[in-house]
Amino acid sequence: MRLFAALPIPEPARSEVSRLLQRLRRGDWPVRWVHEDNIHLTLKFFGEVPPDRLDVIAEALQFAVPGTGPLSLSLAEPGVFPNLRRPRIVWVGVSAPPALELLQDRLERRSEAIGFPPEGAPYHPHLTLGRVREGHRLPERAIEELQAGYQPLSFLVEQLVLYESIAGRGAPTYAPRVSLELAA
Ligand code: 2AM
Repeated sequence: MRLFAALPIPEPARSEVSRLLQRLRRGDWPVRWVHEDNIHLTLKFFGEVPPDRLDVIAEALQFAVPGTGPLSLSLAEPGVFPNLRRPRIVWVGVSAPPALELLQDRLERRSEAIGFPPEGAPYHPHLTLGRVREGHRLPERAIEELQAGYQPLSFLVEQLVLYESIAGRGAPTYAPRVSLELAA
């Protein structure tokens, strides 16, 4: 099974990003936009794992959560990974209190202890909007258009979820397997 830990995005940010995606879909950018139901903030990608590892991964999440408390986040500047010259991922940034980085770091370290190597790159909280088709460029004013397309809304996240990504013919389905409250 393909697993990742993420924060679900509640209202009002969810609708704001959905509206942005609807507008972007009407354009002709060379991008495969994500399905609106699949917007989330990834904390840790575990990849393909044998189902019997689900329990130990759930324990790693349980280890990471205590002390975090509900997280007050907000939509921030948009951007592109790795850069505008060779764009792969189009995203909306998320600004967060230090508690998010602590949570992500505890999860990363605990995951490493159970055999999942850490990401090389520093953690950059973001909501993936779409994936650029191989070898294509974005329109010249892409960042400005993204910026103009949404408000920097605040929202409160109270859960950490372990999702299973189930491939289908179209967009994957993200099925929650374990949900944990971010109690203080
Ligand atoms: P992202 O969209 O926040 O970048 C489910 O597949 C989620 O896991 C994706 O939305 C992606 O998060 C993350 N993910 C997928 N493949 C990945 C990979 N190879 N390395 C790191 N994260 C990945």
